[in-house]
Amino acid sequence: MEKQLTGTLALAVFAAALGSLQYGYGLGVINAPQKVIQTYYARSLGLDFAPQHNEETNVTTMPLEPDSIPAALTMYWSLSVAMFSVGGIISSFMVGFVADFRGRIKGMLVLNVLAVVASLLMGLAKMGSPHIMVITGRAIMGFYCGLSSGLVPMYIGEIAPVKYRGALGALHQLAIVTGILISQVLGLDFLLGNEDMWHLLLGLSGVIAVLQSLLLPLCPESPRYLYIKLGKKEEACKSLKRFKGEYDTSKDIAEMQAEKEEALKEAKVSLLRLARSSVYRQQLFVALMMHLSQQFSGINAIFYYSTAIFHKAGVAQPVYATIGVGAVNMVFTLVSVILVDRAGRRTLMLIGLGGMCLCAVGMTVGLVYLSTYSWMSYVSMSAIFLFVVFFEIGPGPIPWFIVAELFSQGPRPAAIALAGFCNWTSNFVIGMFFPYVEAYCEQYVFIIFVMFLFGFTLFTYLRVPETKGKTFEEIAALFQKKTAPRPVAEGEMEQLKGATEA
Ligand code: GLC
Repeated sequence: MEKQLTGTLALAVFAAALGSLQYGYGLGVINAPQKVIQTYYARSLGLDFAPQHNEETNVTTMPLEPDSIPAALTMYWSLSVAMFSVGGIISSFMVGFVADFRGRIKGMLVLNVLAVVASLLMGLAKMGSPHIMVITGRAIMGFYCGLSSGLVPMYIGEIAPVKYRGALGALHQLAIVTGILISQVLGLDFLLGNEDMWHLLLGLSGVIAVLQSLLLPLCPESPRYLYIKLGKKEEACKSLKRFKGEYDTSKDIAEMQAEKEEALKEAKVSLLRLARSSVYRQQLFVALMMHLSQQFSGINAIFYYSTAIFHKAGVAQPVYATIGVGAVNMVFTLVSVILVDRAGRRTLMLIGLGGMCLCAVGMTVGLVYLSTYSWMSYVSMSAIFLFVVFFEIGPGPIPWFIVAELFSQGPRPAAIALAGFCNWTSNFVIGMFFPYVEAYCEQYVFIIFVMFLFGFTLFTYLRVPETKGKTFEEIAALFQKKTAPRPVAEGEMEQLKGATEA
């Protein structure tokens, strides 16, 4: 009997998603201990500054005024934050190569060497030049995450049964947000975000890498990789049976065969070829726009600077409000996991982007009128929380897994690489330039995101087709029509399949 959700499938998805947990942890971990690490850098560099020591809490911190922080320190700190993204931007290009070289499982497994090296560098930072070790560790960790943020959704997308592909795909994002939340909580000063423990906080990600290395060898390779890429039918059948129990694999093999024939019509699709090809132009445009809409929605402006934003919005304990955002973020990703295979990707993207647009208006109103009415701080607060809620309903999880759905086996690795590159680069741009834009636009800064979000909502309405419940082949068919995408009718697919098998 063919089973849809088996223990092996759960293990494989869990093991793979540990790579996403690592990504979330890396994204979030650097925020809370900023002052503590800066203080440590300054001391080890012998820089002239006056730390402030609080006798009650026994915590030493840097002076808060930016003017009094030495320029070298600002540079080393910015590099510690930004090298993560630089590593990711570079490696995201290599996702296709790593995925196809020895397969998805071996690819993810070998990568852990990078994660362990990075964790050791950061965990042992106090034994050498801390700034050099942290910056190098962050760059290597970013490099790891650039690859895993492509490989994980690719593997999960390929092994998931059609019916649950959305929910399982969204687990990548669920693991990311869990990683962010864990790092926020562990980063509290009475846990690991203090002078004595900050290096352990950064090095802790090595534990995730070790756990993943132990679990991945127990997971079956992607049957699609085995059959379509390597032509190994026997092994593909074995892998299918490990995922689904003893059953007749011929229907699944026929479906993969149809996809293989499609892939054979095209030569191997390299990055360059994909970027130039008119066959895939529509899909690629949609995929890249989905990732741009995720990043230019402004979500990371909230995540990176939420403490400062809450402070401005008049919140008394901004650190806890930030953790609150992390918790809401996680809960609503879970809601999306439950909804995405019922409501559909397109609907959730539209609700998410549209809702975020309205919230960005709310945030602006709140910030602008804060000095006139004190209760406006509640408006800003609620708008920020709802902004995150709407993000996680659609624009958070969907872009990550929809790229694997939009492309068939041939161009899939290259497409995921390009989309990942687009995501990492725009993430970097937001992180880098938001503070400058904010300094310029002040309380009107979110109007920029209102405009972006309005445009993305419109784009989704006009150009993004629904992929829920469709096979990869059916999805490809949606884009082969020159006219506007239309859903494939019930029964039409069976005819198509019959034709290929005959
Ligand atoms: C998505 C984004 C990432 C963001 C996170 C927030 O995974 O890719 O940049 O920080 O969501 O939950």
